[in-house]
Amino acid sequence: MSNQELHLEAQNSQDRTLSLTDLDQTMVSSDHSSYMTVHDNAVEFIDELSSHDLSQTFGPSVFNDLTDDEIVNDTRFEVRRVLGQGAFGEVYGAQDSDLNRRVALKQFKGEMSQAIEACRNEVRFVGRLEHPGIPPVYQVSKTIDGFPYIVMKQLEGEPLSDIISQLKSGDLKAHAHYSFRARIELIIQLLRIVESAHQSGILHLDIKPDNIYLGEHDELYLIDWGISEEREVAKNRSTLCGTPLYMSPEQSQAKPLDVTSDIFSVGAVAYELLSLESCAPQEKSLADLLEALPTFQPKVVDLHYNAIQGYSPSEFKTPIMKSIKRAPADRYQSTGEMRYDLEQALDGNFLVKCPRTLIKMSINRLFKWLDKRLRNVMLIYALILTFLISLLSLGALIGRAFG
Ligand SMILES: Nc1ncnc2c1ncn2[C@@H]1O[C@H](COP(=O)(O)OP(=O)(O)O)[C@@H](O)[C@H]1O
Ligand SMILES: [Mg+2]
Repeated sequence: MSNQELHLEAQNSQDRTLSLTDLDQTMVSSDHSSYMTVHDNAVEFIDELSSHDLSQTFGPSVFNDLTDDEIVNDTRFEVRRVLGQGAFGEVYGAQDSDLNRRVALKQFKGEMSQAIEACRNEVRFVGRLEHPGIPPVYQVSKTIDGFPYIVMKQLEGEPLSDIISQLKSGDLKAHAHYSFRARIELIIQLLRIVESAHQSGILHLDIKPDNIYLGEHDELYLIDWGISEEREVAKNRSTLCGTPLYMSPEQSQAKPLDVTSDIFSVGAVAYELLSLESCAPQEKSLADLLEALPTFQPKVVDLHYNAIQGYSPSEFKTPIMKSIKRAPADRYQSTGEMRYDLEQALDGNFLVKCPRTLIKMSINRLFKWLDKRLRNVMLIYALILTFLISLLSLGALIGRAFG
């Protein structure tokens, strides 16, 4: 894979989804380059967003009795704001005047055939998956100029990437809200959603903080099923597709994929959410990053120090490091196994691997022992108290006798 093939002007683009379908051809065509554009700073990004035409028409309404000419200008969905932008589409917040509710409209962009393919792929899987953590698609349609769009449940909240940024910037409110325990509970929620997709024979293949959304009550959603794949098809695939910073080594090499690839990506998200550091190699160019991924050994997650939160708890080290092992066979073989280990660790049952885990395990055992034997503890406490009072009284008597 030569540097030239990868068009290295796409540097710093590791956190963007890349979608490359033919390794023999020039890897990043001009049509694909936008997938790899990165926003160097927030101002540029906001400028770009505000340049969007919010007056587009999505419709028409089924309740309006219109002539053919009028239909073109009728708007069932009134676009109110830009909710986000990704590799395959622009997502708008809109009001559905027919059903009188807020919806999210994702308009697929790029070359028409690719836009249609991405849309078809997304609805194919989301339509099949029924889970409260996967926003349902209400409708698929196309704009006047033929671009497909989907209408889906509008999520209130923010992407996990924003929360990680707040934690990284030392935001004390975010640190108070997202304790280590709360963060692991989010990863457990994520694993449940991925588990339900795997049970339906579907791999997500683009699990990353941008595609994980947190609702108002910390309920978690996994969005963007645009590059998902049937497990059986992924086992025979040879295309490079995904987000380099979170993709498994086998995904970065366009090798066949299985559930273990999604487990790697969940592990990469968990690693970053806990330590606030990426577990990917810090290479400058995309080509170097893809080359380094298969052999890179990330630092143990609980050895990263952060001035606000200190070191992350060592009891989660084993499950997280196991999920991001280079060889798929060394990782968890199912999301259920990883979830179980994280739940056990939350409950104080974890393997003793170092002095930190030994001390924590001993303290946990003592607390549990105390909780289980409350009556005995009260009895011992009463005896100690009686003994101390007797000792003090005796001391006072002796003092008086000799004083
Ligand atoms: N249903 C939704 N409700 C609110 N915001 C959404 C919704 N779907 C997507 N978004 C926002 O739009 C961004 C891009 O959407 P996504 O589906 O990931 O597009 P892409 O396939 O182009 O990456 C997301 O990161 C998120 O911030
Ligand atoms: Mg996305």
